[in-house]
Amino acid sequence: MQMKEHILDTPPLKRHVVFNPEVAAAFLQLVVPSVKMALSSALRHRCGFFGLLSQMSSSVSHGRVSTVLLSQMRNNSTSPKIKVDLNQSTGVAVLSMQSPPVNSLSLDFLTELCISLEKLEMDRACRGVIITSSQPKVFSAGLDILEMYGKSPERCGEFWRAVQEMWLKMYGSNMVTIAAISGSSPAGGCLMSMTCDYRIMADNPRYTIGLNETLLGIVAPFWFKDTMVNTVGHRTTELALELGLLYSPEEALKIGLVDQVVPQEQLLATATETMTKWLAIPDHARQITKSMMRKPTIDKLTSNREADIKNFVSFITKDSIQKSLHMYLEMLKKRKA
Ligand SMILES: *[C@@H]1O[C@H](CO)[C@@H](O)[C@H](O)[C@H]1NC(C)=O
Ligand SMILES: *[C@@H]1O[C@H](CO)[C@@H](O)[C@H](O)[C@H]1NC(C)=O
Ligand SMILES: *[C@@H]1O[C@H](CO)[C@@H](O)[C@H](O)[C@H]1NC(C)=O
Ligand SMILES: *[C@@H]1O[C@H](CO)[C@@H](O)[C@H](O)[C@H]1NC(C)=O
Repeated sequence: MQMKEHILDTPPLKRHVVFNPEVAAAFLQLVVPSVKMALSSALRHRCGFFGLLSQMSSSVSHGRVSTVLLSQMRNNSTSPKIKVDLNQSTGVAVLSMQSPPVNSLSLDFLTELCISLEKLEMDRACRGVIITSSQPKVFSAGLDILEMYGKSPERCGEFWRAVQEMWLKMYGSNMVTIAAISGSSPAGGCLMSMTCDYRIMADNPRYTIGLNETLLGIVAPFWFKDTMVNTVGHRTTELALELGLLYSPEEALKIGLVDQVVPQEQLLATATETMTKWLAIPDHARQITKSMMRKPTIDKLTSNREADIKNFVSFITKDSIQKSLHMYLEMLKKRKA
């Protein structure tokens, strides 16, 4: 558990603590962004604010905020967007994104994802997580454009904070994370894949992966760029980002954007096998090494979060950007019709 906190740089926590203000404060510090998000989500769904608060304070004392918040959210959304299956004997969880049609990263989706990840992170029984999609042909289509179009600056800021939170949780996870990329994975979907320790993609030439934001006139922020540089190197990232390139699984394998390409039906079995190899390494050595590799990149965002949000909000709310989002949405509508 000590090691689990290493990357997150938070004070050590015990799982089942008797109420202790210091521990509760530390715990809150760890979960505050997600609590805030869950709160705002709960508020949006008009669930009782005070009811939630009192549930939170009683559950903090048991160190299980996430569980309660999650059930609260599940109670209040039509169906969960994330499904988690933890195999207690292997310590491996399979986290399936199941938000139709294409696992768009909306504020609600991100909130639920963060809570699920945090819950696994706190769970001693869980050492590794395989992230996949139960939607056909798509891993995740990336950031939900509807969260960026015609929204107030406050709401855009809230959304962006949730995107940051997802990235921080995934890139800084102490668990072994493996992306089982079962379909196309453009933009935010590609980012999510790149935060994992290892990527396996289904072998289907119709699937694509890449950060193609520039095609829409959107600039991938520095931490998207950093994540890609850390994965495939500087020159490849430069080409990929400036041209908004999308790669087939074979091409992605060639540039190192994915580590392995296997037939679709072998995807989960391969991920499970790979996980076994990773879990054979002593956790503490692997975690400290991971932290050594990733901490500078994580620190860069952690120390610039507010400026990054401000930057995003002022960019995305520009008339010209809103206009191109409008045109893009119209194009999507026509394509559907
Ligand atoms: C809904 O929430 C309440 C209170 O938190 C809980 O007792 C109940 O079991 C939940 N129902 C479902 C279907 O999750
Ligand atoms: C969930 O939201 C509904 C309103 O949409 C509300 O009536 C209900 O009390 C909420 N459930 C909980 C457990 O807060
Ligand atoms: C957990 O994993 C083991 C080893 O792969 C497998 O034999 C077992 O059936 C799994 N348990 C569950 C509940 O899926
Ligand atoms: C990025 O790629 C995906 C997958 O091909 C596509 O659906 C999406 O429209 C692309 N985004 C832009 C802005 O072109």
